[in-house]
Amino acid sequence: MGAALALSGCGSDDGGSASDGGNGGSDAAGKVGVILPDTESSVRWESADRPALEAAFEEAGVEYEIQNAEGDAERMTQIADTMIGNGVTVLAIVNLDSESGAAIQEKAASAGVATIDYDRLTLGGTAEYYVSFDNVVVGELQGQGLADCLGEEDANIVYLNGSPTDNNATLFAEGAHSVLDGMSNYSVVGEQAVPDWDNEEAATIFQQLYTAADGDVDGVLAANDGLGGAAISILEGNGLAGKVPVTGQDATVEGLQNILAGTQCMTVYKSATLEAGALADTAIALVNGEDAETTGTTLDSESGREVPSILLEPQAITKDTVADVIADGGQSAADVCAGDFADLCAEAGIS
Ligand code: BGC
Repeated sequence: MGAALALSGCGSDDGGSASDGGNGGSDAAGKVGVILPDTESSVRWESADRPALEAAFEEAGVEYEIQNAEGDAERMTQIADTMIGNGVTVLAIVNLDSESGAAIQEKAASAGVATIDYDRLTLGGTAEYYVSFDNVVVGELQGQGLADCLGEEDANIVYLNGSPTDNNATLFAEGAHSVLDGMSNYSVVGEQAVPDWDNEEAATIFQQLYTAADGDVDGVLAANDGLGGAAISILEGNGLAGKVPVTGQDATVEGLQNILAGTQCMTVYKSATLEAGALADTAIALVNGEDAETTGTTLDSESGREVPSILLEPQAITKDTVADVIADGGQSAADVCAGDFADLCAEAGIS
């Protein structure tokens, strides 16, 4: 936990050597390419990461290009090829699966382009650095958050996990299980991974798990806000929304609104400003041929490689702390408090 300290103070200036942070030192003579994964598995990529990355690169005065692969690994490969052809010196990807990610990184390496894993570790990959949050801790916060909402009584839990091709999803589930499995009053009555984090498919999957459990579901460990929203929609149809606690992640507008409305028990906030700032700092170090400041290493479970990492600290958010996300700039009050949510925001002291 303490390891993230050096980076948690300010998004774009870690006190490190390469970026002189603050007011746009523009000595970095390279170009950074970033490929985001999709627009559907979470709204975060376009609504939070892109603007935060743009701001971080602008502030650092480094040339950059950001593209989105729209959920298509072939498209990500093509974008990478084009970026390499256009002379990027550093390429950061959020892989859609480790195999395609590793192939992209290998090609980049043979063209002399350094790579960074942004948010998701590419198993078997060759990235110079991995920039993310501590994803096991994300899962632990979800598990503890669900336990806090459920309380001491016996409860049946359904797990709606993230994509099986996303190493983060494995880590989230691992973290959540590490907390909940030790609590003897809870039973797992269903658990499934949602391919590509597809929110629509998540509703279908949750409906099936719910039916298989004869509707005897007391809590839902959903891996992100989109999957949580899918579970809530099915619970709503059964008159149970607000009675069965559901977790989430990303502190999306919808997730925060669900928390204010009482249909979602918690979310996990991962500041895009911090993550994008850490990526910019790392990329600039690479551009300048310097070592980036890391918080430790992460084991690539496929290759056994210890990947130099910058892992930030995620934060659990409940109704009491929705205001913190807004104060931190994670979402705007205007978005969260739109329309019917104005009253709920006022009650929660958000203006
Ligand atoms: C990210 C989450 C996101 C999910 C779906 C994960 O790898 O860490 O923040 O909700 O992918 O895009």
